[in-house]
Amino acid sequence: MIFGAILAGGIGSRMRIVDMPKQFMPLGDKPIIMHTLEKFLTCNQLDATFVGVHPDWVGYMNDLVAKHLPHAKDNIFVVAGGNDRNGTIMNIIAAIEEKYGENDEHIIVTHDSVRPFVSLRMIEENIAAAKEYGAVDTVSPAIDTIVVSENGEFITDIPERTKMYQGQTPQSFKITLLKELYASLSEDEKKILTDACKICAVRNHPVFLVNGSVTNMKITTPGDYKIAEAMVGGNLID
Ligand code: CTP
Repeated sequence: MIFGAILAGGIGSRMRIVDMPKQFMPLGDKPIIMHTLEKFLTCNQLDATFVGVHPDWVGYMNDLVAKHLPHAKDNIFVVAGGNDRNGTIMNIIAAIEEKYGENDEHIIVTHDSVRPFVSLRMIEENIAAAKEYGAVDTVSPAIDTIVVSENGEFITDIPERTKMYQGQTPQSFKITLLKELYASLSEDEKKILTDACKICAVRNHPVFLVNGSVTNMKITTPGDYKIAEAMVGGNLID
């Protein structure tokens, strides 16, 4: 079976608002997270979609689903997120396996709740590649030259730009593979993981690349939010 996993367990500290995590802020006619969830619901290959939110916001999220997506609510499950992003993924996996059992063919398509402009094409390519390779990342070629600095003062390296990409989501995995690799990591290794694909990278498991897009932006700061507000007024071409 194939499951969507919307990661919404963060509090959005860099957005600097106090009353709610950024994924619940309005964007056009509905909260950011509902745009994201609706995009996942357009993919008819998904058997169910799980949403991992901060434990204090589970009731709020369930109310949003009931209000905006009453017709789809039987296929959407809201669970408590974890202390970090990968913790949220692991909580969602536990909920999937509790409901549907363990199976080596189960696939999870994880996605940041604050990337509302993901396209159906990206989701479908993730699913196809996850079936074949077991681990998939969505990336966009680096536009700016990437500069490495070990100390934040002087350049250490300037890698060849044609080999540089920006990591986005969806990131998709065979669930048993991801669980096995994650379980093999030490607590120190887990702390340095910025995303789920790094779980595979540190254990040298190949991760296939799907083309993302600059429009598949992550809303992180107030500036990003302004751009996203402008984008919902325009037509997106993917
Ligand atoms: N996320 C999650 N569980 C966590 C932390 C983050 O599911 N414990 C999710 C966020 O809700 C977001 C995605 O991971 O959809 C990307 O993270 P980021 O943009 O860094 O979100 P926040 O952690 O909320 O933001 P900040 O770092 O500014 O606090």
